[in-house]
Amino acid sequence: MKVIICENYDELSLKAFEVIKELVTSKPDCVLGLATGSSPVGLYKNMIKDHKENGTSYKDVKSYNLDEYVGIDRNDPQSYYTFMKENLFDGIDIDPANTHVPYGSTAEDCAAYEKELEKVSVDLQLLGIGQNGHIGFNEPGTPFDILTHIVDLTENTRQANARFFDDDINKVPTQAISMGIGTIMKAKKVLLVANGENKADAVKAMIEGPVDTACAASALQNHPDVTVVIDKAAASKL
Ligand code: GLP
Repeated sequence: MKVIICENYDELSLKAFEVIKELVTSKPDCVLGLATGSSPVGLYKNMIKDHKENGTSYKDVKSYNLDEYVGIDRNDPQSYYTFMKENLFDGIDIDPANTHVPYGSTAEDCAAYEKELEKVSVDLQLLGIGQNGHIGFNEPGTPFDILTHIVDLTENTRQANARFFDDDINKVPTQAISMGIGTIMKAKKVLLVANGENKADAVKAMIEGPVDTACAASALQNHPDVTVVIDKAAASKL
């Protein structure tokens, strides 16, 4: 794992952006695996700014998102589909037909998303990390070889995401559809971003801990090309 420690969130967002820009410039028809959450928002802002100011184009890029809540409409303000539209897709020239966000609640929905993914080869998978070490919505204990699946969200994860639901855990969905760790590991390159002290334990377990399902992100130690971009606070326990 290549670990880049940055002074602050702005620097982290710039470093992560440089990795994406290098890929999109050298391979304009690349396939990006994308993530939601607050961690990549600064990176997405940089992509939009660069697109507007320097014309970097995403018209031939395909994207596949990691996850989505079960039981909320695509167009709900809290859906990850809406998040991606508002925080990235509407600000760049990506063709909406080339963007993919998983949706559904059944094994068939999971198999269908996995089938879509089989048609491509993800060049770069962007990830955040949950406070409990989850990647996508692969919670502690998830087998490393699992593909897209329906997840029962842990209390910890629902609490952490309650800030997007009027700070009311009862409004946070109880399930999600998520790429599996096995799906994520197929990407040629992984770029993980994390900031803040509340991520320090998860970051330590991911990088220095045993490769164990107790920390889903520790599976990345077995991936040949992982870049972790974190701020000082998230790196404070390394
Ligand atoms: C969410 C998402 C993850 C994300 C993580 C961290 O639950 N499913 O993909 O990486 O939790 O979120 P944040 O970046 O807001 O801390």
